[in-house]
Amino acid sequence: MLTFEDGVIPDTAAVGARMASMGAAGAMQAEERGYTIAAAGSGRIRVEDKRIINCNADVNQLVPFKYKWAWEKYLSACANHWMPQEVNMSADIALWKSGGLTEDERRLVKRNLGFFTTADSLAANNIVLGTYRHITNPECRQFLLRQAFEEAIHTHAYQYIVESLGLDDGEIFNMYHEVSSIRDKDEFLLPFIDTLTNPEFKTGTLENDQKLLKSLIVFACIMEGLFFYVGFVQILALGRQNKMTGAAEQYQYIMRDESMHLNFGVDVINQIKLENPNLWTTEFRAEIRGLMQKGVELEYRYAEDTMPRGILGLNAGMFKEYLRFIANRRCQQIGLDILYAGATNPFPWMAEMIDLKKEKNFFETRVTEYQSGGALSWD
Ligand SMILES: [Fe+2]
Ligand SMILES: [Fe+2]
Repeated sequence: MLTFEDGVIPDTAAVGARMASMGAAGAMQAEERGYTIAAAGSGRIRVEDKRIINCNADVNQLVPFKYKWAWEKYLSACANHWMPQEVNMSADIALWKSGGLTEDERRLVKRNLGFFTTADSLAANNIVLGTYRHITNPECRQFLLRQAFEEAIHTHAYQYIVESLGLDDGEIFNMYHEVSSIRDKDEFLLPFIDTLTNPEFKTGTLENDQKLLKSLIVFACIMEGLFFYVGFVQILALGRQNKMTGAAEQYQYIMRDESMHLNFGVDVINQIKLENPNLWTTEFRAEIRGLMQKGVELEYRYAEDTMPRGILGLNAGMFKEYLRFIANRRCQQIGLDILYAGATNPFPWMAEMIDLKKEKNFFETRVTEYQSGGALSWD
């Protein structure tokens, strides 16, 4: 049996000697691994040495905290834990199988799932294989680990809905290849994901730091902050009419998680700007505004394709206005001038749903706030 007397506590003098002998070659190897053990020669980690990118302080030490917002968001995300199979899908199954939805409503549900079933896998891979390596701060990484798990839960939720309704999973999971309005959104995102997941890509130059910042903005503000919102409105609008209430409840939890991902992303982006003001050039800002406009166009095309005729009291024109309103908000959040003067929110009820915290959810089926721990059974 392992005890502390068995030498688990490291011999600090020996460790120090080993680290000193690492020399330049060792430091180089550590840097290639994405971190350095700063404590080796310079004593304890100091808060002022911590940075979001290109940091040389040891990323294995969570404290002392520098970015309390990152840690607090990690704690909030954990307090909102939920699992898809806790949501009762029987009303959705009965409605779907009884033919209680119109053809347009069925098309909407399928194309909606057609985007989301693969989008959150893209998001998870982007975090795990890309973003995580380049963010050199442990409290931010702690949030990213939680975020990656939440993306897995979201993919699970979409799969659970597909399975519950007995949909053709080959049809739904291939829509990102086969339906152009979905494929175009994903193809817009892929180059930015590829930048971060390319094993050769390293930050530390103006050009590459701008590439990283651009990818972070595209991911948080355009993917999570814009490309999800037509889909969220559609399913939540069905729920408000007492249709597909189980799916709508799942989407409500997902939207709450995504709203936290977006806010975390915005904090990271703004902190990188603060620490690296040289990245935020006039050309760079113009490029980001152009990407934002492109995102609005693609998402609007998706809205038209998923609902070619007005249904549920919604029509494509309302989405155009909504997307412009959201794009303005995303610009403001990262310190850019707005793109569409005078745009207003045609769906004020969405703001209430995003803000839900401890209240009962809108179907009053359960308390939205989730605390895990008490529900486990070891039988
Ligand atoms: Fe997600
Ligand atoms: Fe997300």
